[in-house]
Amino acid sequence: MIIAIDGPAASGKGTIGRRLAERYGLNHLDTGLTYRAVGAAMLNGGISLDDEAMATRIAYHMDLEDLDFDPRNYAGAEIAEAASRVAVYSEVRRALVAAQRRFAKKPPGAVLDGRDIGTVVCPDADVKIFLTADPVARARRRAAELEASGRSPGFEAVLADIRRRDERDSNRALSPLRRAKDAHLLDTTDLDIEAAFRAAVDIVERARAAGL
Ligand code: C5P
Repeated sequence: MIIAIDGPAASGKGTIGRRLAERYGLNHLDTGLTYRAVGAAMLNGGISLDDEAMATRIAYHMDLEDLDFDPRNYAGAEIAEAASRVAVYSEVRRALVAAQRRFAKKPPGAVLDGRDIGTVVCPDADVKIFLTADPVARARRRAAELEASGRSPGFEAVLADIRRRDERDSNRALSPLRRAKDAHLLDTTDLDIEAAFRAAVDIVERARAAGL
């Protein structure tokens, strides 16, 4: 089984994706981390984010198996912004999408979350969920998360980051953030993480009952 979860920044994709993977015994890939890893490598190497050729080289050399995908290593707003800057480059996307598809094909199947999973990476996914929430609700959650991990950029800064990335991710030419026609919409504005997870499980169970 392949489950595709898409949605804007801080909509809960990572947490819900991880928990669905645990529940159904599937592999899990937060594809945002692959773009964040390219952005982080650029920042660490002092490479300009305008350097498309270098971003492409880094993306082609990325081995998803080798990366330490602890989200805490890639949590900062600077890395998020760098990720969204390199994510507009066509060759970066080509390299990372190829790696993500290889990951999805490995048995027993996977949950992938990102922006273009249901539309581009796994258009034939068995279940597609489009998670969304009001930007203010998303910023509140992300600010609380960052504070818990010892960073406190403040609510206003987090909201500005989310709005800027929403705008860039939704309006870029390549693989913009879009709900696939056959994706189930799940609005988590008024749901806590437990309720959102239960709603996601309901969607998967209904799809399974219908023979996927
Ligand atoms: O999901 P996350 O906030 O970690 O993603 C960081 C950035 O990576 C996003 O703002 C987006 O620009 C990019 N991204 C993407 N396609 C994906 C996942 C993430 O373009 N499938």
